[in-house]
Amino acid sequence: MSKKPRLGFIGVGMMGQIAHLANYARLRDEGECEIVGITDLKPLLARAVAEKYHVPRIYENATELLQDPSIDAVVCIQQWPNNYALVKQILLAGKSVMTEKPMVGRLDEAQELVALAQEKGVLYAVGFMKRYDAGVEVAKHLFEEFRHNGELGNLLEVDAVCDGGDWIQNAGAPVIADDPTPLPPLQPTYPDRCTTPEQRAAYGYLVNIFAHTVNFCHHFLGKEMRVYAAQFRRDRGMQSLLRSDDVLVTVHGATSASHEWREYTTFNFERGHLMVKTPVPLNRQQSARVYLTRPGEQGFVTTEYHAPVDWAFFREAQGFVRALAGNVPLRAPAETCLWDVRVMEQIIDIAEVI
Ligand SMILES: NC(=O)c1ccc[n+]([C@@H]2O[C@H](COP(=O)([O-])OP(=O)(O)OC[C@H]3O[C@@H](n4cnc5c(N)ncnc54)[C@H](O)[C@@H]3O)[C@@H](O)[C@H]2O)c1
Repeated sequence: MSKKPRLGFIGVGMMGQIAHLANYARLRDEGECEIVGITDLKPLLARAVAEKYHVPRIYENATELLQDPSIDAVVCIQQWPNNYALVKQILLAGKSVMTEKPMVGRLDEAQELVALAQEKGVLYAVGFMKRYDAGVEVAKHLFEEFRHNGELGNLLEVDAVCDGGDWIQNAGAPVIADDPTPLPPLQPTYPDRCTTPEQRAAYGYLVNIFAHTVNFCHHFLGKEMRVYAAQFRRDRGMQSLLRSDDVLVTVHGATSASHEWREYTTFNFERGHLMVKTPVPLNRQQSARVYLTRPGEQGFVTTEYHAPVDWAFFREAQGFVRALAGNVPLRAPAETCLWDVRVMEQIIDIAEVI
C-alpha cells in the first residue's frame, strides 16, 4: 500500500456524495488520499458528481473500476441489500472496502465476507461513524475510567434510545442528475425465520436505524449482548431487552415526523450515570454531548464535557484513509460488526411484530 491511498467509489447517490465523497475530496485536497475514479448505475449522475468533485475518471461499471490496478480501496455506498454481492466482488478483486451500515442481511453472509477479507489480507470497514465522533471518544474514555476505578460502583443497566425524526436537517442537497436509467430492484436477504411482510418491514427498520444503537452498545460494553425479548410496531417503533453478562440493556425507539432527532444512551451505575447524546447523523457542526453525574460534596453533580466541534462522517473518512496508510487500526472493522448482525438476527427471531 502506498502512503497515499488511491480510492475508487461505487455508488454516488445521496449518502455517497454528502456523507462520503465530499469528505474524501477534502482529504484529497489536504493531501491524505487520491480519488482515482467513480462509477454509478446512473451514468449522467456519475458525470455530474465527477465534475462537482473534480474526479478525473468515470468507469462504465463496478467491474471495470475493480480491474484498475491503481485503485487500493473502494468506498461502496449503497442501499444495504446490495452490500453482500458488491462487497464480495470488491474483496475478490483484492481491494479494501468501506460500506455503509448495516453490513448485510444475514449472519452467514457477514461471516463469509469477513473470512474473505482476511484471506485476501485487505481492510473491510463498516460505516458505524458514531465510533469516530469526538464526543463519543470522550464518553468512552470516561466510561472505561469509571468502570474500572469503582467510584460509581457497578454498571447496572444501559438505556439506548433512538427516537428518529428529521435526520437530514438542512445538510445541503446532493447533485441530482435527470438520469432516466432504471435501477434493478433491490433484493434484500433476511434471516431464515424472517419470512412475513410484517417481519421483513420490522427487520428493515431494525437494521437501518438500530444497527447503530446495537453497535454503539457493543462498542462500549466490549462484549456481545444476548437478546431476551423484543416487540415492534412494524417499522415505526421497537423495544428490545438484552443483556451483557449481568448488565441489563434496553434498546428502543420510534420514528416520527418530529423536527428533532433524539438519540441518547445512558449508562447507569450504582452511584451515578453517564449520558451520551449523539447528534443528528448529517449535522456537520455537532459532536456528541456527554454528561457525567456523580456524588459531590453537597449532593450529586452533573458535568458536561465539550468535545471539539467536528463531524463523525469526516472523522470516519479520515480514519479509513489513515488505516489504509497503515497508521491506525480501523475503529469499526467488519469482524467486530458480526456481533451486531447476530444480535439483530436474534431480535427479529424472538420479536412479536404488531
Ligand atoms: N450512517 C448513517 O447514519 C446513514 C444515514 C442514512 C443512510 N445510510 C445508509 O446509506 C446507504 C446509501 O444510501 P443513499 O441515500 O446514498 O442511497 P441512494 O439510493 O441515494 O444511492 C445509491 C447509489 O448507488 C448506485 N448503485 C447501486 N448499485 C450500484 C452498482 N452495482 N454499481 C454502481 N452504482 C450502484 C445507485 O445508482 C445510486 O446512485 C443506505 O443503505 C443507508 O443504510 C446511513
